[in-house]
Amino acid sequence: MEIIRARDYEHMSRQAANILSAQVILHPESVLGLATGSSPIGVYRQLIKWYEKGDLDFSRIHTVNLDEYVGLSADHPQSYAHFMREKFFDHVNLERANTHLPDGTNDDAWEECARYDKIIRSLGGVGLQLLGLGPNGHIGFNEPGESFTKGTHKVSLAEATIQANKRFFESEDDVPRFAYTMGILDIMQAERVVMVVSGAQKAEIVHEAFFGPVTPRVPASILQLHKNFTLVADEAALSWC
Ligand code: GLP
Repeated sequence: MEIIRARDYEHMSRQAANILSAQVILHPESVLGLATGSSPIGVYRQLIKWYEKGDLDFSRIHTVNLDEYVGLSADHPQSYAHFMREKFFDHVNLERANTHLPDGTNDDAWEECARYDKIIRSLGGVGLQLLGLGPNGHIGFNEPGESFTKGTHKVSLAEATIQANKRFFESEDDVPRFAYTMGILDIMQAERVVMVVSGAQKAEIVHEAFFGPVTPRVPASILQLHKNFTLVADEAALSWC
């Protein structure tokens, strides 16, 4: 595990964007695993800038997103499909057919999870996975539990996650209670994993996840065992380390 200590959110975003752009330049047919949340927005912003300058070409890149809320269609303003179009896809030359997210409108969970895992397998797995860190240590929507779940699955969102994500919805009641998420094995099989974390409110969980024991009670802690994991965090997020 490698830690890159950034000064602040902007610096963290540029450092992580540098790693993603190296991947896109060196491996123009890569599969990028992408994340939502406020943490990676700066990374997307930076990649868009470099794309606009003519430095990056996404035309042969494929993307697979980590997760999606169950019950939200791709055009729902709070869906992760909408988030990705608004924050990234609509601003670069990714082929829309090469971008993948779980389908939140498929209420047959078994079928949807099998479909999504088949897509990941058919692409040959993830080359570089970008991650944020949930306030309770979740990655994607892999919530704390008694064991690590391997493939894509349907999860019941933890109370802490509902509380953290309600800021994006009109009311707490509007936050979906379930989501589809890539599993821990899907994430661990990525060739390279980069996590971005910012802010003092994440300092305690960063310490627990990366300086404590590997345990499904803190799902991100499994990344300590990944062969090529880089944590890009700002000073505030690293203040307990
Ligand atoms: C959501 C997403 C996660 C993300 C987390 C943290 O729950 N499913 O993938 O890492 O939020 O979000 P933020 O970066 O806004 O703290």
